[in-house]
Amino acid sequence: MKVTIIGAGNVGASCASLLSQKDIVKEIILLDVREKFAEGKSLDISQMLSIIGSNTHVIGITNDFSKSENSEIIIITCGIPRKPGMNRDDLMNTNAEIIHSVTKKSILFSPKAKFIIVSNPLDVMSYVSYMTLRVDSSRVIGMAGILDSVRYRYFLSRELNCSPHDIQSLLLGGHGDTMVPLYRYTSVSGIPIQEFLSKDKNQDIIEKTKKGGEQIVNLLGTSAWMAPSASVVQMVEAIIKDSKRIFSCSVFLKGEYDLKNIYLGVPVLLGKDGVEKIIELQLNKEERDLLKNSANHISNMMKKLKLNSLI
Ligand code: LAC
Repeated sequence: MKVTIIGAGNVGASCASLLSQKDIVKEIILLDVREKFAEGKSLDISQMLSIIGSNTHVIGITNDFSKSENSEIIIITCGIPRKPGMNRDDLMNTNAEIIHSVTKKSILFSPKAKFIIVSNPLDVMSYVSYMTLRVDSSRVIGMAGILDSVRYRYFLSRELNCSPHDIQSLLLGGHGDTMVPLYRYTSVSGIPIQEFLSKDKNQDIIEKTKKGGEQIVNLLGTSAWMAPSASVVQMVEAIIKDSKRIFSCSVFLKGEYDLKNIYLGVPVLLGKDGVEKIIELQLNKEERDLLKNSANHISNMMKKLKLNSLI
């Protein structure tokens, strides 16, 4: 089992570190354009692994995509991250060019790979990857819902003074201010959240969740990497182990939720083939309107995408 991570920055290197510690893949290729950078990161991670007791080989590569040959999963983390004052959308056309170029090179060497997209703006970059790769959309999956969901669970756990492990939640929509955390589908060990928290109080927590990424950008001067990479590793594990887990991921919609030709976060079942099923929930009017609003936001961004000059 071979996994390639494109981009050895904070998110890519953390993905390599967290995934290698699980000892579930034989080889991780960490690839970056910066001369010797991925090699340095990989050496450091590899030396840590003898303490952890993992046999995964982590190999750093400068820009030679042939070394990613026959990867089962390719994780795309490259591109520029946000700085304070920027939103995820400001990165769009710069990152689109980068994502287009790396996905095109990657598929040449791993025609059967599943792709997990992490670069921002997430839903649009997933779409750019899908349009570039021209493979079944079940193999091109954006990571966002898990991250947004853990932030929501974290803030809820602080409010309720309980373990975040016991909170189940589901989010729909784009990765950004229009995300749609579902109050009706949130529970604590199976007990509906309504038993603990009013809708207004929950709304405050949703607002905090929406700003969760920005909060970290403002504190650190760059975007988060630990929770994003742990979220990616959950997806990789579900695919590798064919465990049929249900997560919210950004996937290509072909009429589900009355939306099409767009990448957006919805609950999916992940297994060895990537997205094995898209789960359609019976939304109420308020939830449907919020999802539609989120989809409109992503569509408006996609209109500004200079995709024709790329593909
Ligand atoms: C965040 C970035 C990774 O939400 O989108 O932290």
